[in-house]
Amino acid sequence: MNRINRIGSGLAFLLMAVLALSGCERPPIETVQTGYRGTGMAQVYNPRLLEDQAALNRMPEIDPPARVRENAPKAGAVYQNVKVLGDLSLAEFGRTMNAMTNWVSPGQSCAYCHVEGNFADDSKYTKVVARRMIQMTQHLNADWKSHVGETGVTCYTCHRGQNLPQPVWFKSVPERTTGLQPILGARAGQNAPSPDVALSSLPNQAFEQYLLSEDSARTIRVASNQALPSGNTKSTKQAEHTYGLMMHMSQSLGVNCTYCHNTRNFASWDESRPQRATAWHGIRMVRDVNHDYLDPLAGVFPVNLSGRLGPMQDTAKVNCGTCHKGAFKPMYGAQMAKEYPALLSPSP
Ligand code: HEC
Ligand code: HEC
Ligand code: HEC
Ligand code: HEC
Repeated sequence: MNRINRIGSGLAFLLMAVLALSGCERPPIETVQTGYRGTGMAQVYNPRLLEDQAALNRMPEIDPPARVRENAPKAGAVYQNVKVLGDLSLAEFGRTMNAMTNWVSPGQSCAYCHVEGNFADDSKYTKVVARRMIQMTQHLNADWKSHVGETGVTCYTCHRGQNLPQPVWFKSVPERTTGLQPILGARAGQNAPSPDVALSSLPNQAFEQYLLSEDSARTIRVASNQALPSGNTKSTKQAEHTYGLMMHMSQSLGVNCTYCHNTRNFASWDESRPQRATAWHGIRMVRDVNHDYLDPLAGVFPVNLSGRLGPMQDTAKVNCGTCHKGAFKPMYGAQMAKEYPALLSPSP
């Protein structure tokens, strides 16, 4: 009897150990120091996860540069319906169309955007969207150097050979405010583990809060500079929204909080790494493209096509993961954009 008891409790112990460790990652784990010694600023990497990340972040082949004769005619002078890329030589125009096809619709070829037999026709919505995407990419490269630097952005940075980039996000349906809800308070997506907040129990609507518009009521800062409550009007819930966003940012870049912060004082810029300033500009950049380029496209997408519009009939919008795909820089900083002059700046 005693023996059976002992075996039983041994088994129970084993089961509990397995359960307790199932949330852990198996060794070896690598650590790289990123801050001044003694500050505990280090990056913890799982080499197995790094392999998946590397596979997602390989740079595709670059088409050889177009050979352009002197006085060669421009696309705008030859074609009928060119509104954005008119200043390119014919050769570079064709090279850009080829590249866009490989980046966005390799399976469907030119016909993904063009009506057969008439390249000038605008009746496919994909072509109308693509024209706006070209303008957005030029704007990112020309006006957001504070974030994208010399690495820059091409269609491939987001699309990676897919019609629809991943991850993206949509507005959520407003919570019910009837019944007990007003007494219990809005859940704000809390305790509903979502990949948007790296599967934590934090509120999962940080994107709507922080990545859609420059709204002063939605500042991310939560720490007070004063001891008394008068210095800080932020609630615990607002702090949780901030942490939700920070979880997303860390996960999207494949880093820990200490990639940007000295966790002794999250708010202090003096003690942060320069990467935090890049991230600060990145947040503003994402708001800008979501608000000015992607959200206004709602009327262009067909309503009955799956995956294009969210429950509130809004378009898919970008977050940090759309470009980064788990890497500290998209494609580890491979400078791909500079090979495609059409995408570097708006034509004069
Ligand atoms: C992802 C969408 C997309 C794909 C794929 C695509 N195009 Fe285009 N194409 C466009 C857009 C957008 C324009 C208009 C550009 C502008 O307004 O400056 C255009 C314009 C053109 C024009 C000018 C037509 C005219 O008379 O106005 C030609 C020619 C053309 N594309 C050829 C091609 C070829 C060839 C392919 C396949 C190798 C291709 N395109 C693939 C989006 C696309
Ligand atoms: C910053 C990220 C980003 C970049 C860069 C980008 N796109 Fe997109 N693209 C998106 C998102 C997000 C969507 C989904 C929009 C939606 O569904 O509302 C999208 C949708 C599209 C669609 C519609 C696809 C469909 O099947 O409905 C086309 C076509 C497209 N992009 C072409 C391009 C081209 C061409 C370029 C480069 C000139 C480009 N994109 C650059 C993020 C990007
Ligand atoms: C890629 C860089 C980056 C990473 C990684 C990051 N943060 Fe942040 N964090 C920022 C930036 C930038 C701000 C300021 C945002 C703003 O004011 O617009 C910020 C602000 C904060 C704040 C508010 C500070 C204040 O002034 O009130 C807290 C708290 C915070 N982060 C916690 C975290 C935690 C916890 C993690 C890890 C889960 C994390 N951060 C990961 C860049 C980062
Ligand atoms: C449109 C694509 C795009 C989006 C969206 C994007 N980034 Fe970036 N990010 C880049 C590029 C490109 C670089 C490389 C810049 C360089 O080489 O100087 C970069 C670099 C960074 C760096 C610097 C890394 C280092 O080690 O130097 C940080 C931090 C960063 N991004 C954070 C963010 C955060 C946080 C978000 C979301 C709020 C975000 N990014 C959204 C394209 C993007």
